[in-house]
Amino acid sequence: MRRMWTPLMKPIIEKINARYIVEVGSATGGNTWSILEYCRDHDAHMTAIDPFPSFDIEKYKREFGDKFQMCTELSLNALPHLQDYDVILID
Ligand SMILES: C[S@@+](CC[C@H](N)C(=O)[O-])C[C@H]1O[C@@H](n2cnc3c(N)ncnc32)[C@H](O)[C@@H]1O
Repeated sequence: MRRMWTPLMKPIIEKINARYIVEVGSATGGNTWSILEYCRDHDAHMTAIDPFPSFDIEKYKREFGDKFQMCTELSLNALPHLQDYDVILID
C-alpha cells in the first residue's frame, strides 16, 4: 500500500479533507509514517491497527504525539471501539 500513498491515497484523502484516518495492517509502519505526516500537516489524527506491528511504536508517539494511536489487536476487535473516522485503509 505504501507505493500507492502519494499517487492515489493521499490525493483522495486530501479531497475529502479527512481528519480521522484508520489504517488496518501497519506492518513495518512505512505507510503509517506517511499518514502521520499528512495528519501533522492537516490537523488530523489516526489509529493504526495491527496485532503484530514491527516498528518502534514509542518513536512514532514521540514524533507525532496524540495524532497517533496504536491498537495491537485484530481489526474486528478494535473497529467497534472506534467512532467518527472518515476513512479506513485496509491492507
Ligand atoms: C501487507 S502487511 C501491511 C503493509 C503496510 N500497510 C504497508 O503499506 O507497509 C499486512 C499487516 O496486516 C496485519 N494484519 C493481518 N490481519 C489483521 C487483522 N485482522 N487486523 C489487523 N491487522 C491485521 C499483519 O499483522 C501485517 O502486519
